Amino acid sequence: MAGMSQPEFLDFSHLAPLAKTLWPGRRRDYVSPGLADPGLMRVFPDLAEGDVADLQWPYLRKDAPHIWRRDLRGVRNPYIGVLSLDEATLLYNNALPFKGKRGLEIGCHYAWSTAHLVAAGLDLDVIDPALGQPDQMRDVRDSLSRVGPARLWAGFSPSVVPAVRTVKPEPWSFAFIDGWHEGDGPRDDALAVVDQMADDALVMFHDLVSPHVAAGLAVFAEAGWRVGLYNTMQVMGVAWRGTAAPASHVADKDMPQPEGQFLQGFTALSR
Ligand SMILES: C[S@@+](CC[C@H](N)C(=O)[O-])C[C@H]1O[C@@H](n2cnc3c(N)ncnc32)[C@H](O)[C@@H]1O
Repeated sequence: MAGMSQPEFLDFSHLAPLAKTLWPGRRRDYVSPGLADPGLMRVFPDLAEGDVADLQWPYLRKDAPHIWRRDLRGVRNPYIGVLSLDEATLLYNNALPFKGKRGLEIGCHYAWSTAHLVAAGLDLDVIDPALGQPDQMRDVRDSLSRVGPARLWAGFSPSVVPAVRTVKPEPWSFAFIDGWHEGDGPRDDALAVVDQMADDALVMFHDLVSPHVAAGLAVFAEAGWRVGLYNTMQVMGVAWRGTAAPASHVADKDMPQPEGQFLQGFTALSR
């Protein structure tokens, strides 16, 4: 099982961090003009601003101006962050056209991103091995009880993806991949998902500033999907095909441009 090889602790000390500087000003939230914010922060009172200076993950854009948050219920790994508000509203607005259709999320943590997908009206499957922790499953259920239902699967992607797919006849029309970020994780997730999607479909990734995640988006490009990037705090990737189309996004004027040779083939979607 792929998940069995995931280490509990990772040493990044051999990698140079992406950001050489910290954003010098006060951090803020941002929502792009033209996008709707479902206002779910009130459902997540445990989301708290964290100090990015403390974080070791080399692919965190510490020089971006937006607030980085973690869920204080996450005691086992307090360094896991969630989507910025800019990113969560992008996820929500991209999912809205798929209201009533089947969706998939890989990597929910404490359900901040999940809540946005549920609020958009997706009929959602959610895969995360952390849901196997009884307290986390309870906390995720508690948060979602104020938003709407989702099918929660405690398991490792990509191993459980085929089994989850079979619980309903319809393919997924929307997918959000934000699970295991290292090595071949995102690419393996993408390979498991790409053939399970509807003809009119959209897939999003978080953390495209990581080359490992970019390799996941590349799977969709190689399969003939259109692909692009949103310039958010961690850069979001989108793949779409058929009648689906990505939402328009205006980036924060202070957001640094995405860097990295591995991002060169992807279209810039943010104005
Ligand atoms: C960065 S967090 C997700 C944050 C969440 N999407 C949000 O913004 O609210 C990554 C999640 O991926 C989960 N994860 C790790 N390995 C996984 C795997 N093999 N399959 C699915 N999820 C995995 C972790 O347990 C964690 O909850």
